[in-house]
Amino acid sequence: MSNRRIVIKSSKPLFGEVAVAGAKNSALAILPSVVLVGEVCRIENVPDISDVSLMCKILSKIGVKINMISPGCIEVDPRCISSVCADFDEIRYMRASYYLIGALLGRFGKARVSMPGGCDLGLRPMDQHIKGFEALGAKCEISGGMTNVVSDRLVGNRVYLDMVSVGATVNIIIASVKAKGTTVIENAAKEPHVVDLANFLNSCGADIRGAGTDVIRVNGVSKLRGTTYQIIPDQIEAGTYMIASFATKGNVLIKNVITRHLESVSAKLMEIGANIEYKEDTLRVSYDGKFNRCNVKTMPYPGFPTDMQPQMVTLLTRCKGTSMVTEGVWDSRFRYVSELRRLGAQISVDGHLAVIEGGNDFIGNCVKALDLRAGAALIIAGLFASGVTTIENIHHIERGYENITEKLSSLGADIRVVESSNNRKCYHVLGA
Ligand code: EPU
Repeated sequence: MSNRRIVIKSSKPLFGEVAVAGAKNSALAILPSVVLVGEVCRIENVPDISDVSLMCKILSKIGVKINMISPGCIEVDPRCISSVCADFDEIRYMRASYYLIGALLGRFGKARVSMPGGCDLGLRPMDQHIKGFEALGAKCEISGGMTNVVSDRLVGNRVYLDMVSVGATVNIIIASVKAKGTTVIENAAKEPHVVDLANFLNSCGADIRGAGTDVIRVNGVSKLRGTTYQIIPDQIEAGTYMIASFATKGNVLIKNVITRHLESVSAKLMEIGANIEYKEDTLRVSYDGKFNRCNVKTMPYPGFPTDMQPQMVTLLTRCKGTSMVTEGVWDSRFRYVSELRRLGAQISVDGHLAVIEGGNDFIGNCVKALDLRAGAALIIAGLFASGVTTIENIHHIERGYENITEKLSSLGADIRVVESSNNRKCYHVLGA
């Protein structure tokens, strides 16, 4: 049985340049939404990550033709879809598979899709998606692990989301693009990937207004056309390299970013003491001799992103004094703290609050990536821990970070993926 691990040796400060890939969460919304478009679309700047490969596999299984034109460029041909029923294992491994419901419903008036999977961050209900589909006139039923939706004719309506949800906002936009009349989504998510999805669909002929604000208006259109569209850079990948650079006391130029999307992360890093210089689509993050303690609360965009929370907590372990981090989006996003403690972190967790006593040194150990961003946080920790850190379950990390070990190596980190053909315990690798 293959058993892949990331092995990190205590590294020097990161130094050099790194380019950010296309946004995972944009790609995972745009690729399934091509099903709704019904014509061939060419999507550029698609990140080379396993979640995208999985999404392509899911689309292929319902009859969508996927053609890799060149690295980062995928042609998606949804003209001959063979099934509105997506009931296979791959669906259950990813969250974004539920965008197929909106896309199939919007195009064919029906969908039958297995319940989605994704990172374990606590309860991840779909009630707001269902509320939206029902407001458009669809009949929805969840039974036997499947979501069934059906409608003779979707009709635009007002949908107020009870909480800000990226997934529900995206799914309701997709389902309403070809509905009759106007749909108004209130309390909508404002994340950059929601805007990217709307821009993509508008370039196919949709009429979506207000994406990026909390009221989105979708005027239904009867026909969409194929397009070529370039995905925005990944805000969270960029933020992860910002923290990796700063936490290792480094100096890194991060290229291919939209600096506006990184304002909350930059503001907090500057509060902690980072030096940040902006220039068009790049930013440089460097250590300036201090790590100040700081409090952070995660919130929907433009607040501090929950997907940067584990990386931020890791950075705060370097800051002398007490820092507090409040998780404002997910019920259970501090499970990884037990892994950070193995490296020497002093963190206590009470519900949505983590209290970090920072300033003590980390010593390498064997740890497990419990989810994608938790895995990224452990990599950052391994970079500044002394000795060797070995990270297991790296498939979580590969879901969302393109070539992360290569990119960090190019910045001077001593990091590599180690393959071993059996299930030996971690300490054997350390001893090797
Ligand atoms: N929620 C409900 N009911 C719903 C939908 C959401 O109660 O019908 C709750 C959730 O339980 C959560 C909150 O609303 O407490 C926000 O959930 P949201 O729907 O915004 O999350 P999501 O769409 O499932 C996306 C990203 C996540 C990211 C969140 C928040 C994708 C594929 N995933 O998830 O990304 O954390 O938005 O920004 O876009 C990641 O990339 O590591 C990741 C987990």
